[in-house]
Amino acid sequence: MLEKIEALLSEIESLTAQSLEDVEQLRIKYLSKKGLISSLMADFRTVPAEAKKTVGIKINELKTKAFDKINSIRDNLSKVDDVDDDMDLTRTGYPIPLGTRHPLSIVKNEIIDIFSRLGFTLAEGPEVEDDWHVFSAMNFAEDHPARDMQDTFFIESHPDVILRTHTSSVQSRVMERQQPPIRIICPGRVYRNEAISARAHCFFHQVEGLYIDEHVSFTDLKQVLLLFAQEMFGKDTKIRLRPSYFPFTEPSAEMDISCNICGGEGCGFCKHTGWVEILGCGMVHPRVLELNGIDSKKYKGYAFGMGIERITNLKYQVKDLRMFSENDVRFLKEFQAAN
Ligand code: PHE
Repeated sequence: MLEKIEALLSEIESLTAQSLEDVEQLRIKYLSKKGLISSLMADFRTVPAEAKKTVGIKINELKTKAFDKINSIRDNLSKVDDVDDDMDLTRTGYPIPLGTRHPLSIVKNEIIDIFSRLGFTLAEGPEVEDDWHVFSAMNFAEDHPARDMQDTFFIESHPDVILRTHTSSVQSRVMERQQPPIRIICPGRVYRNEAISARAHCFFHQVEGLYIDEHVSFTDLKQVLLLFAQEMFGKDTKIRLRPSYFPFTEPSAEMDISCNICGGEGCGFCKHTGWVEILGCGMVHPRVLELNGIDSKKYKGYAFGMGIERITNLKYQVKDLRMFSENDVRFLKEFQAAN
């Protein structure tokens, strides 16, 4: 009898099942009224009195083992079944919609592409700047009113730390670590203390250009900007330079392009003038070269800075600047074809 029990014990130890039906078969085989364990119980009567205790304990052990084992096989199978319930291989996949590039990034990349072909390389500088790189090194005198035109955000306890108002600060960052020839463009975000409206925002994007070498002239600047305008807006685009003032360039100019919305005829966008301003430029002021450790007797340079939003508006006629930063997917999806 004890041998029979031991044999059953090791048999039960190694039980397995593939399905819940199999488990039910096992239960019937071992634990049902007509099962193997019940029939052992029936044989129990024939066990001699002195062995009853040992055999009784063994039978109980066998019963609990069988019970636990069969239950645990059932539990495991049900868990796997739960997972299976969720996995419906016949269902169509959830498409994860691919995003589109932001219109400002599309235009920024186009600008970078045009200037890379002319040999300009990329430079970057911090958005959180100091007064020196944004203003002083760019020849803004301490109390010059030009500082007011670019009012920005200051930190009361650290008045020297500011958000840059223009990417011209990167000119200084590059000059202080590199001697000419320098030929870089730097795209980036800039900040100004402006009331937010359809036409102005407290942050926007610029691309700065800087070229310093021996024998650089205004003609070079004009030719590069003409080529840029025609690559960006089409071969028929005209440019016009108007005298202007920036502390860091001399002479300075503002550049207009023939309005590419009306073709120069005059429309609402160009305020019926046929021209739209897109950038500021000029010859790098000799004092800027000196302030940043470059010999102004030997080297000359030109610089320009354009607003990416303005150029994007001209290309895609976005009427309200605020659309660029609202993260409205309906707006962003409009640029799918341009990606
Ligand atoms: N930094 C000027 C601005 O933000 C643009 C500029 C750049 C003008 C370089 C001249 C030369 O308006």
